[in-house]
Amino acid sequence: MLTTLSNPDLLRTQNLIDEHWCDASVRFPVTDPATGNVIAQVPDSNAADAQRATDAAAAAFPAWSRRTARDRAQLIKRWHALILSNEQDLARIISAEQGKPMHESAGEVRYGASYVEWFAEEATRICGDVVAEAVPGRKMLVLKEPVGVVAAITPWNFPLAMIARKIAPALAAGCTVVAKPAEDTPLTALALVWLAQQAGLPPGVLNIVTASRANTPAVVDAWLADPRVRKITFTGSTPVGKHLARESAGTLKKLSLELGGNAPFIVFDDADLDAAVDGLMASKFRNGGQTCVCPNRVYVQDAVHDAFAERLAARVAALHVGPATEAAAQIGPMINARAVEKIDRHVQDAVDKGARVLTGGERVRTADGPHYYAPTVLVNATPDMALAHEETFGPVAAVFRFTHEDEVVHHANDTPFGLAAYFYSNDVRRIWRVAQALETGIVGINEGALASEAAPFGGVKESGYGREGSRHGLDDYMHTKYLCQGQLS
Ligand code: SIN
Repeated sequence: MLTTLSNPDLLRTQNLIDEHWCDASVRFPVTDPATGNVIAQVPDSNAADAQRATDAAAAAFPAWSRRTARDRAQLIKRWHALILSNEQDLARIISAEQGKPMHESAGEVRYGASYVEWFAEEATRICGDVVAEAVPGRKMLVLKEPVGVVAAITPWNFPLAMIARKIAPALAAGCTVVAKPAEDTPLTALALVWLAQQAGLPPGVLNIVTASRANTPAVVDAWLADPRVRKITFTGSTPVGKHLARESAGTLKKLSLELGGNAPFIVFDDADLDAAVDGLMASKFRNGGQTCVCPNRVYVQDAVHDAFAERLAARVAALHVGPATEAAAQIGPMINARAVEKIDRHVQDAVDKGARVLTGGERVRTADGPHYYAPTVLVNATPDMALAHEETFGPVAAVFRFTHEDEVVHHANDTPFGLAAYFYSNDVRRIWRVAQALETGIVGINEGALASEAAPFGGVKESGYGREGSRHGLDDYMHTKYLCQGQLS
């Protein structure tokens, strides 16, 4: 796919530090998740590379933060336009390294671009307060100021959208950035950063270094220890999020952590069942089930359980599994062998403990590789199964049967995670009761597709803190300064 790019310049295989595209002393391979074939080699950066990126970002900060918000917004808008005009090439890069079907990759480009446009617009609306003075002869003002250098550490499941929704608000607020994309999917992030450079972003404002799994701790530790890095924004696993929280305490950095989830999806007996099946298909099988917000536990009330499971299984069995190069593909390969092994372990564990497979339930070996898993529906799921507690991150819908509202709310909340929850009901009183009782940062009510640049995305409990998107997403990159001027009377 990378050989068919209309603009081959988008294929970057070096770090950007200050204004220079540069190598590290060692490189590591990027592979096609379907075949395992090496598609590129990128720098395996170390602590010294990370520090040079911070030097550049720290040097660029004073001038960038002093530019007017409108000026920054115009540059970010130019970047937005370039992202959209390169949609197909960016989609090819996403599909090549992440494996999702091309139509999903193109959707991700538009989704990521929507955050860039949103924060370009929000930049011009940053404002503080003039407070009614508490003492005569004083003026009291509140300013919003950029926090400084931001380190963005991003995941492989949405290689464009996740980095876009961190970099765009940081730049809009007046921060400068050092970024490290996931080792599985660095090429999309490098292409995006190259487009920002083409849009006219000044040297040092946005820097990116790539690193293998083995070298990632060296890069991240360099940023954790550096007092010039004032904020870390991270999307990924809860254990890594906790490590970042602990290790950044030494310099008390601001943190945004978008961590693991274990979303419940509840279907009450008063729900529109077809709408609920549609909602589950959209939320569960997007990106092959590799999203933090996708339902991991499907709870269906007794009276509608069998009808729902039957309709769901029919839809899931019809999903087409295949490589991104196939136009009909709906479920691509999983990101790597570890991912497939985890999914298979969850399914085997569930079956051993009494779950019944309605469809799927096994690995799929296509002609182009071993990393596929059949879209799966299980019934008779119970709380003692691993998939009730751990994020499966694959195309497996496990259906639990329930009887009472109180009981299902208890089970839905019985997890350390609190990112997203979904429920379907047509009872307006129940809707308010359940929406308030669910302990998550995001609740879908009769809706499976929740993501939007205008909405605050983020979790509670061990799913993290901080919000991405919406005006709250910009606030996370600024601090509040109080000015008090006296002697005025
Ligand atoms: C995620 O999986 O972390 C993000 C999903 C989204 O933006 O909808």
